[in-house]
Amino acid sequence: MKQPSATVADQAAIAEAAAILEQGGLVAFPTETVYGLGADAENPAAVARIYEAKGRPHDHPVIVHLAPGADLDYWTTDVPDEARQLVQAFWPGPLTLILKRNPRIPDAVSAGQDSVGMRCPSHPVAIALLQAFKGGKGGVAAPSANKFGNVSPTTAQHVRDEFGMDTHDDGALNGDDACSAAELSRVLEGGSSEVGIESTIVDMSRLATHGPVLLRPGHISAQQIADVIGMLPAAPDQAAPRASGTLESHYAPRTPVTMLAADGFAATLSQLHAKGVKVALIGHDLPAALTTSAHAQRMLPADPAGYAYGLYAALRDMDQTDAGLILVETPPQDAAWLGVNDRLRRSVFGSAGVIDALLQK
Ligand code: TXA
Ligand code: MG
Repeated sequence: MKQPSATVADQAAIAEAAAILEQGGLVAFPTETVYGLGADAENPAAVARIYEAKGRPHDHPVIVHLAPGADLDYWTTDVPDEARQLVQAFWPGPLTLILKRNPRIPDAVSAGQDSVGMRCPSHPVAIALLQAFKGGKGGVAAPSANKFGNVSPTTAQHVRDEFGMDTHDDGALNGDDACSAAELSRVLEGGSSEVGIESTIVDMSRLATHGPVLLRPGHISAQQIADVIGMLPAAPDQAAPRASGTLESHYAPRTPVTMLAADGFAATLSQLHAKGVKVALIGHDLPAALTTSAHAQRMLPADPAGYAYGLYAALRDMDQTDAGLILVETPPQDAAWLGVNDRLRRSVFGSAGVIDALLQK
């Protein structure tokens, strides 16, 4: 996988960010999946600031991030052996485990549920921050650092764009956005997130009665989990804990997004062009003749990891053009592409029928 390339936060910036967290402030930081908007998980007022900054409904729990080797049992209770095997196999890394919450942990992180989402990220800046914060013994509650419902950020610049902050002066505000950004005082640099889509989430809190449940697909696949614990995580059932990343409409740009298989592409594109519709393309296998005719385009690698790495930046960049439609070439449907297809399906939600509507104008 690709390594972060931009300048990364230095020790001084990390120490300062840890101090802000200890004082109850918000810090955005890179992880290997997407950038997170962090607060002290044991400070309910700080956690409330996350919800305020994101405009996130209060009934959506946030994930608690720990430093490698931190004491999982401080946060949780009744941790099954299988969950410890997953920790052993995949932490630090892009896997979140839902476990029973320890009664000493404030309800606020779990939005009142009796479970808690735990994750140990592998990005070196995230690890350094978690080690500096409360001497490595704290937990940082962090959802993705985007406004509720928007595409998750995979660079520090994406975070600044989301919260209306100036490029160089982290913490500085741009007039109109002063209210929304007022709560976010630092964005740590860490290059482009190497995974590019959010962590896999497995519910291990109801293992005895329901087995493992895959709440959100990601880079670590259900099969990789089965290889470790001998049980294949099931799809979510009615009683599964709520996860906002599982809302139908999520990860959505402002421009309507729709998917088309490669064979119908050329004909639809020329019909749209004939109607004067500006189309931004995202593809992985389209012929050059098609992509050059588009208003804007981004071709992504034809492998699932490379595609996931570029997907959110592509959606953001195409959303910045004045295109009337983002048209995505339908990716392959096999298991390795589950995470990508899950995110695309949610980006497309709400845009059903958009091509017909544009063609009828
Ligand atoms: O990769 C990631 O997981 C990123 C980085 C920053 O770590 N974080 C992230 O957080 O994606 P967020 O809040 O955008 O998505 C976390 C998902 C939400 O859908 C939330 O509802 C679910 O995890 N979640 C958190 N705690 C939970 C719990 N106790 N039970 C069920 N779902 C939970
Ligand atoms: Mg999110």
